[in-house]
Amino acid sequence: MKIDMIFFYSLVFTLIVLILAFFYLLKTFRRIYNRQKNGESKEVSQVGFVVDTFHELVSKLKEKERELEILRQKAEDRALTIEGYNENILQSVPSGVMSFDENLKITKVNQTAEKIFEIKKEFAFGKYHTDVLNSPITDLLNEKKIIERGEIAYTTPSGRKIWLGLNLSPLKDSDGKIIGQILVFTDITEIKALEAQMEFRSRLSSLGEISAGIAHELRNPMGVIAGYTKLLSKKVDVSLKPAVNAIINEINVMNRIISDFLSFAKPAELNVSDVDLKAVIEKSITEVSKGREDIKTHIEIDKLPLIKGDEVLLRQAFTNLIQNAIESMPAGGEIYIRSSIGDSVELFISDTGPGIAENIIDKIFLPFFTTKEGGTGLGLSIVQKVIVSHGGNIFVESNNKGTTFRIRLPIKK
Ligand SMILES: Nc1ncnc2c1ncn2[C@@H]1O[C@H](COP(=O)(O)OP(=O)(O)OP(=O)(O)O)[C@@H](O)[C@H]1O
Ligand SMILES: [Mg+2]
Repeated sequence: MKIDMIFFYSLVFTLIVLILAFFYLLKTFRRIYNRQKNGESKEVSQVGFVVDTFHELVSKLKEKERELEILRQKAEDRALTIEGYNENILQSVPSGVMSFDENLKITKVNQTAEKIFEIKKEFAFGKYHTDVLNSPITDLLNEKKIIERGEIAYTTPSGRKIWLGLNLSPLKDSDGKIIGQILVFTDITEIKALEAQMEFRSRLSSLGEISAGIAHELRNPMGVIAGYTKLLSKKVDVSLKPAVNAIINEINVMNRIISDFLSFAKPAELNVSDVDLKAVIEKSITEVSKGREDIKTHIEIDKLPLIKGDEVLLRQAFTNLIQNAIESMPAGGEIYIRSSIGDSVELFISDTGPGIAENIIDKIFLPFFTTKEGGTGLGLSIVQKVIVSHGGNIFVESNNKGTTFRIRLPIKK
């Protein structure tokens, strides 16, 4: 039994050893087999890896290049937009802007500057200031003056006299180095005229109060003189009749002057209604152009909106203007009436007369200023008063080919 047991145990042991040896052999074989197989594929996969990495790098580089190109394009577009934007601002500002380099050559001109100075920027670029502009601006640039809120009178190439409000300052680069001068300006001609009209208005009210009283006082003694003269004309000898008639005529003239003066000096009391300006102008023309077939009138007026105003006073104003136009053309001529409508109604009354001399044009609106033998010089003073009391304004432009009065009246809704 003991021997059997020993035999059994040795058998089991041998079996275990055999099984273990079998597994060991199997593992060794597999390792050898694997090692052979791996050797080949490793070589293959190493080359593939290098190629793949290279391709990947190239495509990444290309991608970065594309991104860079997009960024560069964006930066370029932005720079162009900013440049265009700055240029748009410069071109759109309602002030004139001109820049000059250190040698006083023009480097920039915006649209408003072109309009005010009557120049073309293509012509002005690179030219010397004196080739394009006149004194006193050229003097200010020569002296490299720094001016803030200056006001100067200036004559444009077409001979227009204008007022400019201006600033002149050194032009600096981003490092603060002076590289030229910059001139910024606005046309303040109308503002100046309005200031003068305001001043005229205030002078008018105090003058009006005093003088209307005096004129009124004169009417009483004149009435008495007229009464006695009429009495005399019935009693005097026929030989004295012409003298008495002369007195009556003079009294009538004086009466007309006083009426004119009163309508100029009295504060305007407007009897307001809806006024059709075209009809008013047509009536005025018919009234004053009677017997003057040598005067041709062209009414080129669009349909005008009704305005709120005093029809009688407006008719008087237009009659005076057309009367002046006709009187300026004793040998005949043409009258043009034109209009434009915006925030207000603008009317242009032009004649083809000899124009108004430069040395008197500033005086024509003054009461009693006249160059005519039988004139009282109140016509334009009344016109101005009527227009101003309607909240409008009047401007004159004249040269040796004719005169244009521009009247602006507000449209009241
Ligand atoms: N259209 C015109 N063309 C040329 N000169 C003009 C014109 N309108 C006005 N003037 C000038 O302005 C001056 C003043 O005109 P205004 O109408 O105030 O007075 P007047 O015509 O002289 O006299 P009146 O009181 O009879 O109107 C005129 O004497 C004339 O020299
Ligand atoms: Mg007149």
